[in-house]
Parts: sequence; structure tokens; C-alpha cells
Amino acid sequence: MKILAIETSCDETAISIIEATGGKKHPRFKILSDVVLSQVKLHAPYGGVFPNLAKREHSKNLVPVLTQALKEAGLLKPRKNKRHEIAPATLRKLGKLLAREPELLEQLLGFVPDWNIPKIDAIAFTSGPGLEPALWVGINFAKALSLISGSTLIPVNHMEGHIFSAFIRGNTFSISHIQFPMLALLISGGHTELVLIKDWLKYKKIGQTRDDAAGEAFDKVARILGLPYPGGPEISELALSKKQSGTYALPRPMINSGDLDFSFSGLKTAVLYLVQKIPALTKPIRAAIAKEFEQAVADVLVKKTLAAARAYKTKIIVLGGGVSANTKIRGDLTKMVETELPGTTLMLPERTATTDNAVMIGVAGYFRSLKEGKAPSPSRIKADGNLSL
Ligand code: KG4
Ligand code: ZN
Repeated sequence: MKILAIETSCDETAISIIEATGGKKHPRFKILSDVVLSQVKLHAPYGGVFPNLAKREHSKNLVPVLTQALKEAGLLKPRKNKRHEIAPATLRKLGKLLAREPELLEQLLGFVPDWNIPKIDAIAFTSGPGLEPALWVGINFAKALSLISGSTLIPVNHMEGHIFSAFIRGNTFSISHIQFPMLALLISGGHTELVLIKDWLKYKKIGQTRDDAAGEAFDKVARILGLPYPGGPEISELALSKKQSGTYALPRPMINSGDLDFSFSGLKTAVLYLVQKIPALTKPIRAAIAKEFEQAVADVLVKKTLAAARAYKTKIIVLGGGVSANTKIRGDLTKMVETELPGTTLMLPERTATTDNAVMIGVAGYFRSLKEGKAPSPSRIKADGNLSL
């Protein structure tokens, strides 16, 4: 099965083409292309992702990103003879569908006539959670491509994508030796959750943040420390710097709460109060605070993951989401599993798969295609900013 996957939930415009075989029993994947265009530099001056700017950039970039993805996959073939005429009825539908994205419509109509439309079995795309204006662009683009190519539409939950990101290995990989239930720790800019995976696509949320997400805490603390957006990588880098001054003690919120929930808002406030008391916030002082903050987040994540794995007797733990790029968190989780959970496998996503990408949406989409007998009707597919697993 050839799947074209689209991801536009936040500030990455991503399209990937994958080939999937083997069904649920022996799933195997080949990545034909994986294109990610990050808007992060454009949003940085706002200190966060600005939804309407994200939407505009997705509109502008989807056709170029698609062209690149088809080219990398070896599927971009110019038409030798006459141009591909879009039927008038299809043209009308496309015009209606992309009425709010005139630039995207124009680029698409400029692109289609000159190229052979490759055979794509399904189009998987993120329908939520995320920024709704950004999600809508990807959804409407998927619908437009489906009108032109006749491919089936598969809506995918972005967090489900992050779960599957942990299984991606190189360009060709299979998913094997799975033992249900599995446990997923999902840590991103908008989410922090522990999810029990009872079977493929069957989830139970067993813990989540009561306020800020882990990534959000990294971004907010970075801002307090005068670091640019996105703050996660900045804090990790600062925490590693050799020159550190002072020792600071920050709280580990809810570490002994006895449940599997998280809270990071108080930790951020604790950093703010601490910083306000320091007259000259030198780089070595900021480095020491960054290190302590990162350790506080890691301690809570590790302790709750251990408690969840014990409580639900899971033998596989998967990590996903933007924050899973963090070396400290990866290292501490690895150590914990080695020492406390013998016989348990920790699946860490490859670094490139931690950021939002479309491969993970394609892989999740394959499992969805195996499950749902009947494809959803396009008119019922909507963006859901708060879509839950
Ligand atoms: O999954 P993601 O790309 O987007 C969402 O779906 O939210 O996650 C982005 C988040 C940001 O908050 C960013 O600061 C954080 O992931 N992040 C990190 C690191 N790299 C990215 N946080 C901690 N350490 C990192 N190395
Ligand atoms: Zn994400």
C-alpha cells in the first residue's frame, strides 16, 4: 500500500510517502520520501507559534513540499503528451474546498496539468490535536488531492503519530515482538500524557498534565532565562555548559502524588521566583538553573513512567513527542528501565522522528486503514484542535 502522509498541526509543513505491507501481524515499512519544512525561525520573534502565520505558511509551502516529496520518491514524472485536464466538476469542487486558500489553489492548479498523477492508495493526514487554522489547511489539501487522485482519506491523531514515531528505524523497518499492553510516554509542546496501549489503536489515558505540558514548561522557563523560542533545545544546551555557578533546588511537582498525573506550572513559577531574587543573572547561574530545571522534569517523568509500567505490567515502553529529543530525559529513562524494569524494552524514537514529521502520520495511517473498513466521507472530516486519543 502506498500512502501519502501530510502533517500541518503546528509549525512544520511535512509530507512523506511510504510503502506499507504485512498487515497488523507483520507490518513493514519503506520510507520513499520524508520532507519537513520548519517554520520555527518565522515564529521565534513571537516567542511561540502564531496560528495564522502557521496557516499562511502551510498554504504557501504545501505544493512545493509535495513536489519535493514526489521527486524524492521517484514519483514525479512529467506528462509526455497532452496536459492533464481537470474535469470541470472537479475544478468547481476544488475551488469551493480551497476558497480560503487561494494561493494553495492556484499552485495546485498550476502543478497538476503538467505531471502524471502517481498511484497513491491512501492519503493520511493529521486531523488533530493542534492549531485548528493550521490543521484545516492540511485537511483541505488532503481532500483536494483525494478529489484529483481518487485516493482514500485517512484522518490521523497527531499523538498517535508520536506513538508510532518510536518504531521508525532508518528507511526500511518492521514492527515486531510487540507485547500488549504497551505504555507510551508522550511529551510535546501541547501534551504530557501516559497512555496505555491495549492493542493497536486502542488507548487508555492513564495520566496527564493538569496544567502546562512538559514542552511548554521548557519554552516558558527558557523565556524566563532570556533564551529564544523554542526553549527545549536551548535549555538542554545551556544545562550542559561546563561553567556553572551555584546550586539551586527546584520542586518536583506531584512526584509523590500517588497517581500518574503531572503538573509543570508550579515548577515554572518556582524558576520565576528564584530568578527574581538573583540580582545578576550571569550565564553560569542560568546554566545551573537550567540544569536543575531539566533534572526536575526528568525526575518526575521517570518516576511516573516507572509507576505506570509497574501498575499495568507493561513490557514495552515507547517515548514520543518533541521533548523526547531531550538527552537527559532519554538517558534517565534508559537508566531507570535497565535498573528497575528488567525484561522491559524502551523504544526511543530516532532524533529525526522526535520533531513533527509526516512519516509517523503515514505509519499510524496504515494501521488505521487496516482497521476501518469504510473510509469516512470527506464532508464529515473536520479539524479538532483538542482531539484526544
Ligand atoms: O511534538 P512537538 O514538535 O510539537 C507539538 O506537537 O507540540 O514538540 C515541540 C516541543 C517544544 O515545546 C520544544 O521546546 C520541545 O518540544 N523540545 C524539547 C527539545 N527539543 C524540542 N524539549 C526539551 N529538550 C529538547 N531537546
Ligand atoms: Zn507533535
